[in-house]
Amino acid sequence: MDYNILKIGISNRIAVVVISRPAALNALNSDFFSEFNHFLDDLELRNDVKVLVITGEGKSFVAGADISEMADFGEKEGFAFSEKGQRTFNRLEQLQIPVIAAINGYALGGGCELAMACDFRIASNLAKFGQPEMNLGLIPGYAGTQRLARLTGLGNALYLILTAATLSADEALRMGLIQKVTDPEMLMEEVMKLASKIANNGSRAVPVGKKTIRQGLETDFARGCSIETDAFATLFNDRATKEGLKAFMEKRKPDW
Ligand code: CAA
Repeated sequence: MDYNILKIGISNRIAVVVISRPAALNALNSDFFSEFNHFLDDLELRNDVKVLVITGEGKSFVAGADISEMADFGEKEGFAFSEKGQRTFNRLEQLQIPVIAAINGYALGGGCELAMACDFRIASNLAKFGQPEMNLGLIPGYAGTQRLARLTGLGNALYLILTAATLSADEALRMGLIQKVTDPEMLMEEVMKLASKIANNGSRAVPVGKKTIRQGLETDFARGCSIETDAFATLFNDRATKEGLKAFMEKRKPDW
């Protein structure tokens, strides 16, 4: 497939996807969803990529779903639009490998929802966050009503969605929406440092850890603990786990 909106680079076991439609502040249109799903199809078949980084070109991460595509919608089209976004972001969230959002600017509406479907979020201090759908007479449709409450708590989600407030990166950090704020020129360096730390873990433990945390959150505590025990136990079948434990005992760095 020819990519027109996504710029994809893969090196050192890290894939970086840049969403590049800067004239529309990287708003997510139908072409984006086709390209992104195609990219996820490819990624799911590869085992040489250990971390995915998503960022945006220009002054925006993503300024939302493409508003121009919704202008003439009826209920049926609205349903399909929401379902497609949710399906795509659920796929992203369920990737085995960790996904980092490198948030360079506006992360609004569908852009904030995309960032929330990533495993964690590092932002430039120029970034702005929010779910401004109320300004359009809408609510978030790419699972923002669900993920925002899970990440920041019920009160914060209600506050942000019902007021359509815009948050600075520092406010988003205080709310627990993002994990770290950097100077704009340091954003990609910081993100790549984190990505390569994870990629160099070189073991099954990273995907197993991700899956266990995410599965546990969708169930009750006792069931979550049981998922953890099973996952913990299976790692003892892994060569890297044996090497990690042995290396500690022999006071040396593991040779993954
Ligand atoms: N969809 C389509 N086009 C968009 C867009 C969007 N979400 N956001 C920005 N653009 C376009 C603008 O229309 C403009 O295009 P033209 O130059 O052709 O007029 C271009 O990007 C630049 O935007 P602005 O001139 O508005 O830039 P600005 O710096 O003055 O303002 C902004 C930036 C505050 C982010 C403003 O663009 C804005 O408010 N954008 C809309 C944000 C929004 O409401 N997002 C939610 C969308 S709905 C959604 O996401 C629903 C869902 O959950 C599924």
